Amino acid sequence: MAKALQVLRSTGLLTKHFVRLSFNLDRKNYGYRNLSMSSCIQSGHEPRFPSADLDGKNKWLNLKLDGEQSKKYPYVWLRDNCRCKQCYHEISSQRLLQFSDLDIDVEANDIHFTDDGTAVIDFSDGHKGIYPLSFLEGEKFPAFSDPLRQLKQELWGSELQGEIPTFQFSDVMTNDDALFGWLTVLHTKGVAIIQNADTAPTEVKKIGDRVAYLRKTCYGETFQVMSKHDPNSITYTGTAIDFHTDICAMYNQPGMQMLHCIKQSTEGGENQLVDTYKVVEDLKKEEPEVHSILSNTLFEFTDIGTDFNDFHFRSSIPAIRYGINGNIKQVSIHFGRHHSMNVPPEQVYPVYSALKVFFRYLYHEKNIVRHRLSPGEIICMDNRRLAHARTKYYIDPTIKGVQRHLEGGYIDWDELSSFYRVLLERRKKNENSN
Ligand code: OGA
Ligand code: ZN
Ligand code: ZN
Repeated sequence: MAKALQVLRSTGLLTKHFVRLSFNLDRKNYGYRNLSMSSCIQSGHEPRFPSADLDGKNKWLNLKLDGEQSKKYPYVWLRDNCRCKQCYHEISSQRLLQFSDLDIDVEANDIHFTDDGTAVIDFSDGHKGIYPLSFLEGEKFPAFSDPLRQLKQELWGSELQGEIPTFQFSDVMTNDDALFGWLTVLHTKGVAIIQNADTAPTEVKKIGDRVAYLRKTCYGETFQVMSKHDPNSITYTGTAIDFHTDICAMYNQPGMQMLHCIKQSTEGGENQLVDTYKVVEDLKKEEPEVHSILSNTLFEFTDIGTDFNDFHFRSSIPAIRYGINGNIKQVSIHFGRHHSMNVPPEQVYPVYSALKVFFRYLYHEKNIVRHRLSPGEIICMDNRRLAHARTKYYIDPTIKGVQRHLEGGYIDWDELSSFYRVLLERRKKNENSN
């Protein structure tokens, strides 16, 4: 008790901002090594009533801010995250405390609050830890609260036909709200169309620069999908292209793909899009064995050739992949390119029959959205979620030159998510300053 009163005197709480004070004496039975107190802290404009217990048995601080649930802050985390000038470099938001100097068995011996809303903790290593309450109640503990986790994925099927969210090129390029809307839709639906771009091979790069930068690959910073008279890839012919995601042979498969229509063919060349995450959900319920085979078989993808440089990519990955949180993370299919599967011979037929079922779902009318790009349109799609295909198109042998021309480019998801957060922070700042 005397110690707690001393603390209050030393912080000025007894005289200046004391409103409510309660002591729970020495709860040794429960391992509490300190007194808890509730006292009014003047932080910013609102009075605050933190109540703190140092729980020596569990080695954590129980902190209850007025009207909130008590949160547990382990001593080691607190010591590691001290906000004093010696431990933390505020401008760069980086720790100065070397990890090798951190005593992970550190104890907290005492806590008091100053009247500017700061918790001060005396640690067993002799250090005084400094924690603004705004930091302790903020987003950093127990996990970062990533605003992207609040975006709900919206699975879709053919009902999206004619309803793919559209944006104007000039808006996306100049208006932060339009760009934010486009980034939001890419995160939730995985597909968007940008209209009224120029019909020159300049626009994909402009979008990349607006968000961050394009993801360069062995096909260059951007790549041209066009009909050529001497094609070295079926991309350069008018044949149909089966459902696929781009460059499965890369472990770091490109995140989001843009296809900008510079010239459309006179006939055919329509794109088909499928939300594979929805198909996977259906498969899981209706064809669990197929789902299991596609999630557990290692497919061997290769991509070999010469374009921007000589390349030989290989990956060994399941067609359906889940993250550690149990949510679907990536679908990789590209059976037009060289592929095989890492299974014993007796497993080959079951794998083919699982793929057959998967493709039957992909081509089912209830799952497909069709869109024939017009010149000046850019289709943007999550390359880890959407499968895309192309119907064949007519190449007139009497006409010289390119008869259909799309320019493609990729932006990776880290960059898209990063800029979404940047725009969100800008919006919050603007709202607060208004
Ligand atoms: C590709 C592709 C789409 C199209 O070349 O990978 O998906 O419409 N092309 O030509
Ligand atoms: Zn410190
Ligand atoms: Zn493709």
